[in-house]
Amino acid sequence: MKSNIIVIGGTGKTGRKVVQRLHALQHNVRVGSRNEDPAFDWENQATWAQALEGIEKMYVTFQPDLAVPGALEAIEALTKQAGQSGIKKMVLLSRKGEREAELCEQVVIHSGIDYTIVRASWFNQNFSESFFLDPILAGHVALPQADAKVPYIDTDDIADVAVEVLMNEKHNGQIYELTGLRLLTFREVVSEIASVTKRSIEFTPISLSAYSKMLEEFHVPAEYIWLINYLFTEVLGREGNDVITNDVERVLGRKAKDFTAYVQETAATGVWNQAAEMQI
Ligand SMILES: NC(=O)c1ccc[n+]([C@@H]2O[C@H](COP(=O)([O-])OP(=O)(O)OC[C@H]3O[C@@H](n4cnc5c(N)ncnc54)[C@H](OP(=O)(O)O)[C@@H]3O)[C@@H](O)[C@H]2O)c1
Repeated sequence: MKSNIIVIGGTGKTGRKVVQRLHALQHNVRVGSRNEDPAFDWENQATWAQALEGIEKMYVTFQPDLAVPGALEAIEALTKQAGQSGIKKMVLLSRKGEREAELCEQVVIHSGIDYTIVRASWFNQNFSESFFLDPILAGHVALPQADAKVPYIDTDDIADVAVEVLMNEKHNGQIYELTGLRLLTFREVVSEIASVTKRSIEFTPISLSAYSKMLEEFHVPAEYIWLINYLFTEVLGREGNDVITNDVERVLGRKAKDFTAYVQETAATGVWNQAAEMQI
């Protein structure tokens, strides 16, 4: 049966893959974005009712992160609107091991609307579509928490899980924690990417204060630097965040994508080649 589904953040790293998969299954999909008609803008609640009109199910990715000040209030307001709009099912993308995100989850859990919470570990795609791409292209990655071990998860796996839980009622009321198959430090990640792309990419461990200072010098907005600080201390440092789960397999009946497969697929797209060409 076809469903009317909105994907909030439908042009983002996980959302656009969820949109592709739902289209392939021939559902009626509305992309939640500031650039669609009707538009959805987290900063403008007046856009929400129209964006949710006629919608039965929603996949929600918050911007920029459920830990930022104002996120809880935004999730409370959206959940209220979802109830008023007659939404039957909400799937919230959350972050594994993030206390503030868990407060937002509670709002959805107690909303009276069917829900599934998808808590993800750090994404593989942070190295190819987000904040770690530029240093990789520059051939020099300097990061704090050099020894932290992270079970990176691929956005393909997150999107597959999101679609399965949106479509199948047996996942109602569940919280899934998605991780990849292996723990990797930043140094190991950089080394894998360097090896597959045959590029020289240096890794330098630095302190969090030196990293923040570097971001300031690059004129990164203060709120973003706050978020980075939070992620590198509260999230990377939180006990249990280096635990590998088998929830991808529980939901999908197959293993999560291995990090090496992600590196090989991504290298083949050429996204990491720009600096390599510049080095020649
Ligand atoms: N990166 C990680 O390692 C990681 C790990 C776990 C959880 N998460 C969570 O993932 C969530 C982000 O999901 P994602 O990575 O799939 O998305 P993303 O790639 O960060 O998505 C960007 C999306 O957000 C939309 N957007 C930006 N500002 C907006 C606004 N004011 N109103 C409406 N839409 C706006 C953009 O749409 P338009 O520009 O088209 O409007 C675009 O679709 C965050 O809550 C984060 O905590 C991330």
